[in-house]
Amino acid sequence: MNHGNKIIQQLQALRQQIDQHNYHYYVQDNPLISDAEYDQLFCKLQQIEQQYPELVTADSPTQRVGASPQKTFSSVNHQLPMLSLGNAFATDEVETFDKRMREALTIDSVEYMVEPKFDGLAVSLRYEDGLFMTGATRGDGSSGEDITHNLRTIKAIPLRLATDNAPPVLEVRGEVLMLKADFIKLNQAQLEKDDKLFANPRNAAAGSLRQLNPAITATRRLTFFAYGVGVFEDAQMPSDKHSNILQYLASLHFPVAHECKVVNGVQALLNSYDDIATLRQQLPYDIDGVVYKVNALTQQQQLGFVARAPRFAIAHKFPAQQAITELLAIEVQVGRTGALTPVARLKPVFVGGVTVTNASLHNADEINRKKIMIGDTVVVRRAGDVIPEIVSVVMAQRPANAESFVMPENCPACGAKARRLLNETVARCTGGLFCPAQQKQAMMHFASRRAMDIEGLGDKLIIQLIDNAIVKTPADLYKLGITALANLSRMAEKSANNIVAAIEASKNTTLARFIYALGIRNVGETTAKALAQHYGNLDRLMHADKEVLQQISDVGPIVARSIIDFFAEPHNREVIEQLRYAGVHWQEDQGQDQNTADSTDKNLTLSGKTFVLTGTLPSMTREAAKAKIETQGGKVTGSVSSKTSYVVAGNDPGSKYNKALKLGINILDEAKLLQLLHE
Ligand code: IVH
Repeated sequence: MNHGNKIIQQLQALRQQIDQHNYHYYVQDNPLISDAEYDQLFCKLQQIEQQYPELVTADSPTQRVGASPQKTFSSVNHQLPMLSLGNAFATDEVETFDKRMREALTIDSVEYMVEPKFDGLAVSLRYEDGLFMTGATRGDGSSGEDITHNLRTIKAIPLRLATDNAPPVLEVRGEVLMLKADFIKLNQAQLEKDDKLFANPRNAAAGSLRQLNPAITATRRLTFFAYGVGVFEDAQMPSDKHSNILQYLASLHFPVAHECKVVNGVQALLNSYDDIATLRQQLPYDIDGVVYKVNALTQQQQLGFVARAPRFAIAHKFPAQQAITELLAIEVQVGRTGALTPVARLKPVFVGGVTVTNASLHNADEINRKKIMIGDTVVVRRAGDVIPEIVSVVMAQRPANAESFVMPENCPACGAKARRLLNETVARCTGGLFCPAQQKQAMMHFASRRAMDIEGLGDKLIIQLIDNAIVKTPADLYKLGITALANLSRMAEKSANNIVAAIEASKNTTLARFIYALGIRNVGETTAKALAQHYGNLDRLMHADKEVLQQISDVGPIVARSIIDFFAEPHNREVIEQLRYAGVHWQEDQGQDQNTADSTDKNLTLSGKTFVLTGTLPSMTREAAKAKIETQGGKVTGSVSSKTSYVVAGNDPGSKYNKALKLGINILDEAKLLQLLHE
């Protein structure tokens, strides 16, 4: 097809113009035109490309996004390994490094390049004839993952090198980062979506690069800085100094940090370190140190490599940032799984560029180990640059009225008993079905496929239902009407109908599923089945004895404790009652163990005892009395014999009463029965 040179030229000119503006915007941080003008250019390019799809080229600025999601990343072998760096923390380690360089090179003073040590992810970008072809992670250094599609979405990475003299092959090595400002925006958006928060810009960048769908990566603002080269066939490549290589990369429109600097001798290294450390907070991205590299390439070659790192370079790392402040109080937060975490409330203090007001204390052991008391003066550190922690106590400044921390006995969110199990470092709330802090987690578990299996009631919907205070406990699910559901955003009436039907259908369940659905700590599916099998009946399980529980396979002292604690919590029992009242049911006394099939569990109070009921009991029906007796392991039969242990007699007893008298069998009234039942 003949498009005429004019169109091709117009497209080329437009692409060049847009690339130029991208460069000024994303690399130089100095836009030449307004966003609206830029958008206009971009739209024009898109329009022409739509008209002439056969003229679309891979390096067109319109082609950054659009690759379809992948199943996995394929692996890429690095022709030249991606190395790591040796570390120095103290001044004398840097002096030793410099001495080593001088001695090996037999010169008095070495010329170095000083660069920021970017706290991001190392990548290698391969260009062939000026076009970006493959991008890979560092991986283990010798092979990484092919993340080309994701890297194409990063606007600071040129899709075509800005030169008329493109090298046949050039690998650019550098770091992908998320700017601090973009990290804060991303976390705000995650918070609004109730999505998981990233701990720091590095994690956010890593999470974004690891997306199998490049469309997601494209929504995350990432940037790139070049710090070296891998393999190349490039006549233009400077062969004298590393600093000239960086300059050359900058001329090809790669971002190179402004802070890179050539200096002479060790004192200058240390001065640059101080300068960059002072700048650190103002830099738009996180750095965790400074890198020193011998600048002359012949000297680099002479020095060579040790194992996986060059001998000619070293990273001078920043120490973790610390400050001193006062511990005002220790509060206890309840996590989604009921874990009680003590949190230190601190007098606000500025550490590493942020005001810190609280720090996690993890658990009671941690507090004891660090000998922390309320009122203490403490050293605070921002580890990993984000989550603050208390490093130590300044004992000399402990006030006379400093108070010890005591883990509360009850959950601060719902008041249920808190319990620390033998195998755990944290204390947990036992009010799983009721505790507001655990609502979402508990409900998601309750509805899940292997539990009550409520189809269509997914995590997102549960979050909406709880956030809008439509449901609080699993029992509330069974009161849900179609209107309440249909009013939620993104819910069609048809799906509301389906969900209500699925909730209704879930009422017919099995005891094992129901026990599992309760979300008792340490009771998984297998244990739930074993419990259902053994007890055959929920009431018996609810009154289970700790010793008996432990005779069941799968149940040790910890699991037994969890079960007892769970049913001891009145709110949990209430929710269970409401669930049964709502119509949740299962077949009881099915598939029990042989030895308990006649409900004579040998370890229950009334095991082996046989009862006969006669007459009207003052406060309960005979059925209710029967259930109570059975719960305690007793057996109720219809006729009196010499084997009958007790006859329970109400008003107007029948002939059974007389027969009991004749056979000399124990006769109980309701009060005595209740005594026997310990009620
Ligand atoms: S040069 C030949 N320069 O640090 C040595 N690395 O510990 C190759 N890094 O995986 C690395 N900033 O991701 C070099 N200015 C910089 C760097 C830098 C950050 C990272 C890099 C590497 C790690 C090595």
